[in-house]
Amino acid sequence: MVAALTAAALAAREHAHAPFSKFRVGAALEDDAGRIHTGCNVENATYGLTVCAERVAVFKAISEGVRKFQRIAIAADTDTLTPPCGACRQILWEFCGDIEIILVNPRGASETLHLKDLFPRAFDASFL
Ligand code: THU
Repeated sequence: MVAALTAAALAAREHAHAPFSKFRVGAALEDDAGRIHTGCNVENATYGLTVCAERVAVFKAISEGVRKFQRIAIAADTDTLTPPCGACRQILWEFCGDIEIILVNPRGASETLHLKDLFPRAFDASFL
C-alpha cells in the first residue's frame, strides 16, 4: 500500500500548477478504508493565495466526507526530502492527528516520519 501511495504522490505532482516557483509538489493521503486522495500545489499570481499539495489533498478528502486518515505521502524533486510547511502541519494535525508521513522524491529516496515529531506541542481544539 505504501508503494501505491508514494506512486500516487509522484503522479499527482505531475499536475502541479507552479508557474511562479516551478517547485512542483504532490501529495497522496490514505484514508482508513485504504482510499487515496491526491493533491498538488496550485499557485496563484498573487502568490499568497497559493495552496500547497498537502492541503489540497486534505480538503478534497474532507469535502467528500472522509474523516479518518492513516498516512500521507509527499513528493518533491529535492535530494533533501521536502517536509510539509508550517501551515500544512497545522492542517494535517487538525484533520489527521499524529499521522505517518512518507517523504519521497522521483529518484526513489524516501523517509518515514510522524507528524508529532515535525510538529510538537501543537495548538488545537483541545485548548478551546
Ligand atoms: N509547497 C507545497 O505544495 N507543499 C509543501 O510542503 C512545501 C511548499 C509548494 C507551495 C508553492 O507552490 C511551492 O511549493 C513553493 O513554495
